[in-house]
Amino acid sequence: MNEQTAPNRASPDLREKFRELHGQDSLLVQAPGRVNLIGEHTDYNEGFVFPVAIGFQTQIAIAKRPDRQLVVTSENYGERVDYDLDHLPRSPRDHWSDYVVGIVELLEQKIGSLPGANLLLRGNVPQGAGLSSSASLEVAVCKAFLELSGKSMEGVSIALLCQQAENEFVGARCGIMDQFISVHGKKNHALQLDCRSLEFRLLPIPPDVRLVICNTMVKHSLAGGEYNIRRAECEAAAHFFAERIPGVKSLRDVTLKDFEMFSGQMTGVIRKRCHHILTENLRVLRAGDALQTGDLRLFGRLMGESHASLRDDFEVSSEELDLMVQLAGANPGVYGARMTGGGFGGCTVNLVEEKRVENFSKNVAAGYKKATGRSPEIYVSWAADGAGRLA
Ligand code: GLA
Repeated sequence: MNEQTAPNRASPDLREKFRELHGQDSLLVQAPGRVNLIGEHTDYNEGFVFPVAIGFQTQIAIAKRPDRQLVVTSENYGERVDYDLDHLPRSPRDHWSDYVVGIVELLEQKIGSLPGANLLLRGNVPQGAGLSSSASLEVAVCKAFLELSGKSMEGVSIALLCQQAENEFVGARCGIMDQFISVHGKKNHALQLDCRSLEFRLLPIPPDVRLVICNTMVKHSLAGGEYNIRRAECEAAAHFFAERIPGVKSLRDVTLKDFEMFSGQMTGVIRKRCHHILTENLRVLRAGDALQTGDLRLFGRLMGESHASLRDDFEVSSEELDLMVQLAGANPGVYGARMTGGGFGGCTVNLVEEKRVENFSKNVAAGYKKATGRSPEIYVSWAADGAGRLA
């Protein structure tokens, strides 16, 4: 079991390491990864989501250079890349530094010329695990340059810029959820977001429960075509209703009553995708009320229904995720369990009574190892603050 807390200071040697590399003092920022409690694949349908920022984060040490070079070192990859700010690549190279380039280009368009800079990146968000390592890197880079150039930008604009970089430069058509929570997360709180208006509310998580994240160790990839296929299927469903009901712009505008009236005319796959989105939006709204009134049993039940809907209607779960959820449910003190993030691998999120966490983790890890031969990683998480300067 890996008990991870949310550090609000850089790991002690980041600044020293930067000094060794560049002989300069640096400014430090962090941006967290996230886990989504409920509301999956709803963000790009202008629906509702309910994520939490977690203690895993990307940290960056940054300082100005006198020239127009960007010198970026990734500790995780043990690699350094140099770019000329006046000749940044126009297309991605399928390399970790794509995220840096994508953000820098957009930021220059939005706030004007950026200074040359040295950057040292360090991250502990597990990659390909559905915990938003990419969004955390994007937001950290954006914050780092804003701090460095003494400019400010509204949180919503930062999230939108980072999403745009991922959509247009990196080429993954993600929604707004991951970047939004990485910017706006709050310690001990979950964030219920309306992805149409971008209005949100922060709801406290009761102190006697823990978010336990179980990593199937099967990597997922957003670039993998399935995510984009789901998006296209949802667009097809929205288009179907737009042709029949005035005023429908996205699946957000379609009610279950509309669905019942017309679903007989839809093809099987589109009907199922649509059913997931409509019911998932309702579940997120109910989950918000459940958390507000402290009704964790209801919250957990909605998580279970969400998983079933993702498995059966949206078809983005996997054998390993289903197994992990099933193993979780067999334990006392578990309110709810479901896959989290884009799917096809990655992690489950579990709401577990604090005093049962240790047993839960032991049992689930043993059961998963026995059935699959893989040792899962299990992270016990607290809701963390969003991106910011590090002490
Ligand atoms: C990924 C995307 C998000 C969201 C989830 C599914 O994490 O980046 O925008 O669509 O999948 O809920």
